[in-house]
Amino acid sequence: MTNILCIGAGYVGGPTMAVIAKHCPQYRVVVVDISEEKIAAWQSDQLPIYEPGLKEIIFSLRGKNLLFSTEVDRYISESDIIFVSVNTPTKTFGQGAGKAADLQFWEKTARQILKNSTSPKIVVEKSTLPVRTAEAMERILNSNDKGLFFDVVSNPEFLAEGTAIRDMENPDRVLVGGRETPSGQKAIQAIADIYAHWMPRERIITMNLWSSELSKLTANAFLAQRISSINAIANLCERTGADVTEVAHAVGTDNRIGPHFLQASIGFGGSCFKKDILNLVYLCECYGLGEVATYWEQVVKMNEFQKANFVSRMVTAMFNSVAGKRIALFGIAFKANTSDTRESPSIDVCRALLEEHAQVVITDPYALDNARIILGDVADQVIFEPDPYVAAQEAHAIAILTEWPQFAELDYKTIHESMIQPTFIFDGRNILDTKKLYKIGFNVYALGRPPQTHFHN
Ligand code: NAD
Ligand code: UGA
Repeated sequence: MTNILCIGAGYVGGPTMAVIAKHCPQYRVVVVDISEEKIAAWQSDQLPIYEPGLKEIIFSLRGKNLLFSTEVDRYISESDIIFVSVNTPTKTFGQGAGKAADLQFWEKTARQILKNSTSPKIVVEKSTLPVRTAEAMERILNSNDKGLFFDVVSNPEFLAEGTAIRDMENPDRVLVGGRETPSGQKAIQAIADIYAHWMPRERIITMNLWSSELSKLTANAFLAQRISSINAIANLCERTGADVTEVAHAVGTDNRIGPHFLQASIGFGGSCFKKDILNLVYLCECYGLGEVATYWEQVVKMNEFQKANFVSRMVTAMFNSVAGKRIALFGIAFKANTSDTRESPSIDVCRALLEEHAQVVITDPYALDNARIILGDVADQVIFEPDPYVAAQEAHAIAILTEWPQFAELDYKTIHESMIQPTFIFDGRNILDTKKLYKIGFNVYALGRPPQTHFHN
């Protein structure tokens, strides 16, 4: 039996290993983490993350060929293949602070693997890492006096939260990068063989290590760049009477451009886009490519502008003051179908409104617990309300910040009646029927579209 281990039971480790365990019943798959709390949650009925389709797989395989444990050392020694899926956040101190990836968890893992290994292993980079990290990993692992050799393989993850299971089951492609040595090629094959259990071989792309590492950063940079590009245009739409949803449709129907990732928004969030682009920026700077670094940094700057501008439009529309006014924020997750609030643009909007002394109420179907934690120092100034109808009562305005489909299906007539007049609705995700809302009596401000108000000049 092949023993697979994944170090890091987070948003990537949990779902990816669940799908591998599902399709490879002949493998034992163990997911370990230093967080006892997280592992206890993976072992319970209340999984630590919300992801459609995840709990069904976990509940059916847990205790069979899928285990969750805090016994990191034990399972390292028993494994043949180790996926490393620990967090790689932006460094907050010292050299490269604010941009470079903080690789301390990564390096600690490498040393722990070395310490607990008595047989050779394939170590797989699942976390997103700066290009050439595998070199450092190899140096740490292979500078041992135990006579052990470790192959390091890059297998970046492309799943998106909210669709993690679907993405894992049917990915556009899987990348496996490794050394061009016989041992490196064998290691690549071993990893490709895992995925070949459920996906066509032609979708498994093998390549050199550095290309694989850099492809992950590049893919995220390109995706984020498209969002910043359409958001930049959304601002121009608001000032000119153009409608960004129409522009995006027109542009996206060009086959060469394609329709995906052209949804204008209050800005992209999530734990990765910003950190990965800043990591790319830092790498370019380190290699003396200042112009290239500036080019990519602008994607992040545009995103910061987008969030600030959304709040500014709200304040301006509401007679230049929101102080003391109840404002209902619909959605605090960084996108729909997840409970994750990391780098959520809604959090920035919430904080900015609190600075304007607004009375903020947040509603979200799954992310309120995470929101409480992430808002930390200002959480006690915010009302957390699971029911959107209650959240909107006596509010001056509603802002749609996450594209949860259920927000589009609410009875806005009833909501309107419970609010303070004149009512405002700011659709930061363009999911609402704005004409209908206007007819109900709302003053409607949809992102990247001309406002529809009942005010006469
Ligand atoms: P996460 O924070 O949810 O999970 C990481 C886990 O690693 C944590 O539970 C942490 O306790 C654990 N950990 C840290 N050091 C450890 C150690 N020494 N031993 C055992 N466990 C340890 O992070 P995530 O969102 O799963 O992301 C992990 C990596 O995957 C990052 O590099 C990220 O960029 C990348 N990635 C994330 C996504 C995503 O959708 N979240 C998608 C693709 C790639
Ligand atoms: C993203 C990538 O899509 C994944 O391929 C990648 O594996 C992952 O990052 C990662 O490396 O962590 P994720 O952040 O989970 O996945 O979610 P996305 O669907 O990419 O959305 C990111 C943000 O962009 C969200 O805030 C979303 O609302 C926003 N977005 C997305 C837009 O504003 N407009 C769009 O058209 C698409």
